[in-house]
Amino acid sequence: MRKVIIAGNWKMYKTQSEASEFLMKFISQIDEAPEEREVVLCVPFTDLTIVSKSLHGNRIRLGAQNVHWEECGAFTGEISANMLTEMGVRYVIVGHSERRQYFGETDETVNLRLKAAQSSGLIPILCVGETKQQRDAGEAERVIINQLKNGLVGISQDKLVIAYEPIWAIGTGETCEVKEADRVIGLIRAQLTNPNVTIQYGGSVKPSNIDEIMAQPQIDGVLVGGASLAADDFAGIVNYK
Ligand code: 13P
Repeated sequence: MRKVIIAGNWKMYKTQSEASEFLMKFISQIDEAPEEREVVLCVPFTDLTIVSKSLHGNRIRLGAQNVHWEECGAFTGEISANMLTEMGVRYVIVGHSERRQYFGETDETVNLRLKAAQSSGLIPILCVGETKQQRDAGEAERVIINQLKNGLVGISQDKLVIAYEPIWAIGTGETCEVKEADRVIGLIRAQLTNPNVTIQYGGSVKPSNIDEIMAQPQIDGVLVGGASLAADDFAGIVNYK
């Protein structure tokens, strides 16, 4: 059975007080959502403690946005898997396009981070997706298949989530046409050996398009940026029909 996972990626937004304010409004609004829907918040490192405390006893799972491959060492600005698990972190985003684009993340470092996450018991959310230029050049499929092939070397498909995030649809308001997102996610699934891997769609997901997105047969969840920052919007997404 493929698990439905609705995850928010706060990126570099929200101080601790803003995070607390969000949770106060959000938690009460998702009581009615079916229990088997996993709700995850991937928050900045500085918010992990406060979010972890407020999550005690409720259904939200804690997520981080990156993890280093070494257990410890002279790696200024990085964070290790055991630092995350000690705080109750369950999920971690790996290889987000913003990390690939602005911070030099490559398929090789993505692979190292995935290994470190899994060996500490974290569930990585591996992000893949093509740029507009690659799509226009007809290279989207090749790019995605390469990201998967190189990123997943030696990685178990048992505790793994994949997010298909076409880069041109991130933060632009321009959602990928749902049938096309479903098709690409089917293509991603065809590259995997485990048929039960949850594959999410990400890119301008909103309360107004979530029903249509989740109605697609291949799409098992969403990774939400902008619309996860407002409690009402993210609750509207979690409570999709
Ligand atoms: P938006 O929902 O803001 O388009 O961001 C998507 C994303 O990058 C989630 O990781």
